[in-house]
Amino acid sequence: MEFSVKSGSPEKQRSACIVVGVFEPRRLSGTAEQLDEISEGYISNLLRKGDLEGKSGQMLLLHHVPNILSERVLLVGCGKERELDERQYRQIITKTINTLNETGSMEAVCFLSELHVKGRDIYWKVRQAVEAAQDGLYSFDSLKTRKAEARRPLRKIIFNVPTRRELPIGERAVAHALAISEGITTCKNVANMPPNICNPAYLAEQAKILENDYDNVTTTIVGEKEMEELGMGSYLAVGRGSVNESLMSIIKYDGAADDSKPLVLVGKGLTFDSGGISLKPGLGMDEMKYDMGGAAGVLGAMHALAELQLPINVIGVLAGCENMPSSNAYRPGDILTTMSGQTVEVLNTDAEGRLVLCDALTYVERFNPDAVIDVATLTGACVVALGAHATGLLSSHNPLAHELLNASEQSGDRAWRLPLWDDYQDQLDSPFADFTNLGGKEAGTITAACFLSKFTKKYNWAHLDIAGTAWRGGKNKGSTGRPVSMLTQFLLNRAGQEQGE
Ligand code: BES
Ligand code: MN
Ligand code: ZN
Repeated sequence: MEFSVKSGSPEKQRSACIVVGVFEPRRLSGTAEQLDEISEGYISNLLRKGDLEGKSGQMLLLHHVPNILSERVLLVGCGKERELDERQYRQIITKTINTLNETGSMEAVCFLSELHVKGRDIYWKVRQAVEAAQDGLYSFDSLKTRKAEARRPLRKIIFNVPTRRELPIGERAVAHALAISEGITTCKNVANMPPNICNPAYLAEQAKILENDYDNVTTTIVGEKEMEELGMGSYLAVGRGSVNESLMSIIKYDGAADDSKPLVLVGKGLTFDSGGISLKPGLGMDEMKYDMGGAAGVLGAMHALAELQLPINVIGVLAGCENMPSSNAYRPGDILTTMSGQTVEVLNTDAEGRLVLCDALTYVERFNPDAVIDVATLTGACVVALGAHATGLLSSHNPLAHELLNASEQSGDRAWRLPLWDDYQDQLDSPFADFTNLGGKEAGTITAACFLSKFTKKYNWAHLDIAGTAWRGGKNKGSTGRPVSMLTQFLLNRAGQEQGE
């Protein structure tokens, strides 16, 4: 789909459709007012007759409005003017795009980007609109033999900005949103792929595609033989029960001088998590194909970054692995030696993510990172604590935590911080090894992060638990593409390109 911005008045547009807002109760927005005047009260007349109340998400499609050059006018209910918030704005845009897509307009000029959303500027409104549109249009049908296609799909949408002065900032917002949306689509495509196709080798192939597509991206793959040599005993143990080889993909993006320290993103890439010998219950086990959501998010963020060509150095690590039961699988009771030299008593083979990540986190020390952020569908406890709305953020470095919270606030891809106090560390005590991989019933998200913190002492580190946010369950199940938007926003900020400046 094509997106652009322009600045003009609604009555002068010659388009398949113009989109304007109506507030509750039956109140015209500024642009709707302009159309009403030109059409000699046609729109206000309809409202008076009760055709549209203006409730958030209501749609009324009009044809041949008198004196209007465009073929159609879409009136969009925006709720009470003073209550229009970020979530509603996004929902309204999504609904508008779907309506346009299904009603034959192949092109539209949309004035909803001029609505007042509390505390948000035109950059934000255009960027969110483009992201919401792309999100709404996504479908994963590459494995369906019959694809549902709109007969006359929307091809082009133009968002209006109030004055010409705002055009450059609007264009910037479109460019940023398109890059981020590409990353989100990449994330969704790999995350939605079933585990018989998306195994660690498939993740590695996706990483290689980035290398092929961008000159300043190089990808290297670390296989089991090399992991053996490096002493990654913990990572290897998790993958031992699977016939699919564990593969860690290292994606290096060079955007700045060699001596500029890189940011490192590490994604949990369990292409399937059966629980291993501590087998999970059967109900909903299919959803454990999303246990590579962290790796998918990192891949997506690297894709967006390469599109944006930001002047920073970033390394993305996809920690690919499959957790399966077999006679060769690791077991509860095993004591593993991690790459760091620390030993771990395995109490539950389903707490495997931390065992894979800990070695990946030791591995990345070699890059002398400026900061390391790991991204993982790590704990069911995080879903209990924060639900599907906020990603869990835990960090031993306050400035980094605040940077990430900022990025989440700016992008609308929310995160919420949980504490990482030493008080919780005792829950990992083991009588036989340095510590266990299981923190007990209480504060599962925090004890999982405590475990990781034992491997991240040499750099600034933050951990994102995306167990609740990376995918949606139920009848609309699928990857959400989170937290690509937050991560990319963090990178944009680091590159000094926040907002439209
Ligand atoms: N991948 C799961 C976490 C998970 C659970 C993500 C549900 C999304 C939804 C992880 O490997 C896991 O199994 N965690 C266990 C840890 C426990 C054994 C300490 C959990 O959360 O139950
Ligand atoms: Mn598990
Ligand atoms: Zn897992």
